[in-house]
Amino acid sequence: MCGIIGYIGNNSAAPILLDGLRRLEYRGYDSAGVAVLSPDGQIQIRKRIGRISNLTELLHQSPVEGVTGISHTRWATHGGVTDDNAHPHFDQSGRLSLVHNGVIENYASLRDQLLAQGHVFRSQTDTEVLAHLVGRAYDSLPAPHSKARLLEALRSALRQVVGTYGIVILHEDVPETLVGARRGSPLVLGIGKGENFFASDVSAIVAHTREAVYLKDYDLVALSKDQFEITSLLGGASGFEVSKVEFTEQDVSRGEYPHYMLKEIFEQPASIRDAMRGRLSREDATAILGGLQMTSAELRAIDRVILSGCGTASHAALCGEYILEHLAHLPCEVEFASEFRYRNLPMTRDSLVFCISQSGETADTLAALRESKRKGHRTLGICNNVASTIARESDGGVYMHAGPEIGVAATKTFTSQVTILTLIGLLLGRIRHLSTSDGLRILDELEALPDKVAKILTLNSHIQSIARKYADATAMMFLGRQFNYPIALEGALKMKEISYIHASGHPSAELKHGVIALITPELPSIFIAPEDTVFDKNLSNIEEVRARKGPVIAIGTEGCSKLEKVADDVIFIPKCPEFLSPILTSIPLQLLAYHTAVQRGCDVDKPRNLAKSVTVE
Ligand code: M6R
Repeated sequence: MCGIIGYIGNNSAAPILLDGLRRLEYRGYDSAGVAVLSPDGQIQIRKRIGRISNLTELLHQSPVEGVTGISHTRWATHGGVTDDNAHPHFDQSGRLSLVHNGVIENYASLRDQLLAQGHVFRSQTDTEVLAHLVGRAYDSLPAPHSKARLLEALRSALRQVVGTYGIVILHEDVPETLVGARRGSPLVLGIGKGENFFASDVSAIVAHTREAVYLKDYDLVALSKDQFEITSLLGGASGFEVSKVEFTEQDVSRGEYPHYMLKEIFEQPASIRDAMRGRLSREDATAILGGLQMTSAELRAIDRVILSGCGTASHAALCGEYILEHLAHLPCEVEFASEFRYRNLPMTRDSLVFCISQSGETADTLAALRESKRKGHRTLGICNNVASTIARESDGGVYMHAGPEIGVAATKTFTSQVTILTLIGLLLGRIRHLSTSDGLRILDELEALPDKVAKILTLNSHIQSIARKYADATAMMFLGRQFNYPIALEGALKMKEISYIHASGHPSAELKHGVIALITPELPSIFIAPEDTVFDKNLSNIEEVRARKGPVIAIGTEGCSKLEKVADDVIFIPKCPEFLSPILTSIPLQLLAYHTAVQRGCDVDKPRNLAKSVTVE
């Protein structure tokens, strides 16, 4: 949610900033801008609504020179999508420019105060208020111009601010320094040779350096081209660790794929394998999840599990509910993180909470984690981003190891999340009632999953032709039961977010309680109906749709002739136990959404109004 990159070094800043912005574009793409300190000592700002390509064009017409700069790609919160509201923003003096990711909640009262003092604002953003606040603090401090003065000004301004921020500042009076700070929004320091970087995430800088410091809340940084100082906004020094970035530039490139989403769908045999790597023990017929940091006795004492997340992660949580109840016979509840954070959910002493988040930065999920910890519950994370706030603040957890996911629509991380929840189910089940032979059977099935996923991916062109057939639909319905009810929700979300076709997901049996009223020959229903304990029930629901002339696309188990007879189009998945079927059935639905969106000419990787990680409430 908004991407930041700052550069200070010996090379021309603008191309580095533009390249970084392109890699961060998935975080927001309403507008983009750069501020570069030109050789005459003045800051030049260029910004424009729309994609980075628009900014590139503007820079082509009106270039900026200089070796120090900051830049931003915006996901609009306060103020519409206009050139004026694009970042960077100047302060009142026009000597300080600032980029910001987050929300300044008390910006309105601060703005009134500043207006009363004669400040003039060019935008409707909360960020411009912050720029003016820092500039005012700087100008009120005694000379000389110095890094220390800028840091002090920032400290004093941030003391007045309520909200979240990852910010980077460039000031004409302190040309050899960039200053950055974070609270609630991610910010990373990239350490190069004779050059240094700020970025919202390391994908923006991995082409230049793989050495990074993941900043913590309240870190305040002064960055020059060959050194950095990190102190705490709360006072004193702040400890830090230089980490090696796990992935390479190649990992964040699209390769030969037309879209990141397709690349990430096709990475699933590997990402599912990576989610299990080193975690399956044939010796103990269980899963080994050392990151949970819990003994068998502690795991045995758990009497309830709460799974929380947002969007796709909440659908994975719902899959987890069915899986944990099935494998571990544990009461399990799923709560949207945005609800959990405000709800006073009655919880037993031994309730265990999992917060599930690809980015590990989702504001609602982070708030849910903090609320759960505040109440004294052991709270674990299931994250992909190892350096994320949720990963750091949780009491333990399981990493997805899915590699960077750049497409805004979550795909490979969904199947990784469900795989990990299955491992948790196996571990908790083996501690309770599953026998060694039960455990071994489950391990066999888990190990077979990646090949089954690869087999489903060979159906890509078949799924593409189905997508073309239905791409003009104005609405779709996704239906499934039991383990595959969450997949109906996830299939509908994927379709909505990238193709803009209205879609809804329901338990198949709920049809007759209302939604069947929507069935017409124009509304395709997608039934997730593998051969499981509720297959015959699903079949009856399909008949109910057919009786009303509704077209049916079915996801079924290989060799299921009954399904072929009743559905207009069928996509087959390999046989598997029903608790693992969501991992397989979700994949054709990802491809169906992808090809439908492509057919409709939608921007698959950057769907309108969305951003990859939602770091505002
Ligand atoms: O990074 P997170 O897993 O916490 O993100 C949660 C949701 O914002 C995310 O899954 C969102 O729903 C995706 N756009 C779904 O494709």
